[in-house]
Amino acid sequence: MVLASILNSNLLNLSQVADTVAASGADALHYDVMDGRFVDNISFGLPVLSALRLYTKQPIDVHLMISDPLRFVERFAEAGADLLSFHIESDSDPAETLRCIHGCGIAAGIAISPDTPISAVAPYLSQMQKDDFFLIMTVYPGLGGQKFMPQTLPKIQTLSEMLRRENLPVHIEVDGGINAETGMLCRQAGADYLVAGSYVLGAEDPAAAVQSLKQPCG
Ligand code: DX5
Ligand code: ZN
Repeated sequence: MVLASILNSNLLNLSQVADTVAASGADALHYDVMDGRFVDNISFGLPVLSALRLYTKQPIDVHLMISDPLRFVERFAEAGADLLSFHIESDSDPAETLRCIHGCGIAAGIAISPDTPISAVAPYLSQMQKDDFFLIMTVYPGLGGQKFMPQTLPKIQTLSEMLRRENLPVHIEVDGGINAETGMLCRQAGADYLVAGSYVLGAEDPAAAVQSLKQPCG
């Protein structure tokens, strides 16, 4: 599945961005929320998500890069998130945050920044349900358009092996610097959800960019 991140898109015309994403063949929209505390940037929040929800029929994947995600789970679910991820490095208790997202009836994701070892997610594996996912950050969170960090690939592989061993039907999402080449490396390592921002929305032909992310995995 390909999820188009709108962070670096033409925010002056979000309806056109949503149309472009839908026409590109991307499976979902990826919506990055930053609070200026967890990361050194502020993006968009609840009211913009509600507006997008009214406009697009595509699933919306909300990536919370905020210090206290638990406090906002219900509001983001209500505003239209179909998938909701939060960072394991945040101040909220991960087990409680997962329970709260599940209580809202949407898919939950645990996001992991590049410097956090994959072992940090082990205590929460048993809580993950079908359609849930882990989000492996392949850049430092905070900005679109950064360069993919290849040192994150072994983490994807380790997580993929962990999930297979436990027979858990949970997805692996990657986010940051994804293009045809890095996307393929991530898929070979075990990722099945690819977030791509500038590669898709900065492309002259977004549909061709999405297609290149979906080419058969060698
Ligand atoms: C970074 C965000 C990403 C970002 C991806 O903090 O989480 O979703 O928008 O953008 P690209 O694909 O341009 O790296
Ligand atoms: Zn993101």
